[in-house]
Amino acid sequence: MERTGSKSLAFWITGLSGVGKTTLANALAASLTALNIKNQVLDGDELRKTLCADLGFSKQDRDTNIQRIAELAYSLQQQGIVVIVSVISPYKEARQQAIEKLQATEIYLEAPLAVLQKRDPKGLYAKAIAGELLDFTGVSAPYETPENPAYQFRTDLLTVEETVSKILPS
Ligand code: ADX
Repeated sequence: MERTGSKSLAFWITGLSGVGKTTLANALAASLTALNIKNQVLDGDELRKTLCADLGFSKQDRDTNIQRIAELAYSLQQQGIVVIVSVISPYKEARQQAIEKLQATEIYLEAPLAVLQKRDPKGLYAKAIAGELLDFTGVSAPYETPENPAYQFRTDLLTVEETVSKILPS
């Protein structure tokens, strides 16, 4: 799983809240670990508790979030660790810059908004629709759809195992 030079692969998973980014990231990590390939998941929800705890959800803060995560991912990559990033990354420019820096494989996960609103594991869509949560991606803040992702999957139509097997064919 190594490129020429010492840099490892990177996967960049983008999509709306609740679409299954973290689930796919963890499943990819488990498959890589089973192959004895060192890897690290960098998940937006987790990093917002630590490295990015000072950031909110304005465009500027989200872009900073993505830049910091890309820097961390890059350092890990230099150590030969496969990096799996799972973040909404709604703004195209910051996302593209990060993907280019890491030469990452872009994976766009999607599902109809109605499905995401029904899943709503954290109750955030309900709050956003009620106007209690501002700047919520997909409801009151934009998500700029990737134009040419390496992979695009409907998470309401495919299982996580099916998705992993398309990315990491055995
Ligand atoms: S990103 O836009 O900067 O890429 P990131 O992936 O780190 O976002 O964090 C998204 C997570 O923050 C969501 O899964 C959700 O749990 C939480 N969250 C809280 N407020 C918002 C909001 N206004 N918009 C999107 N996600 C939010």
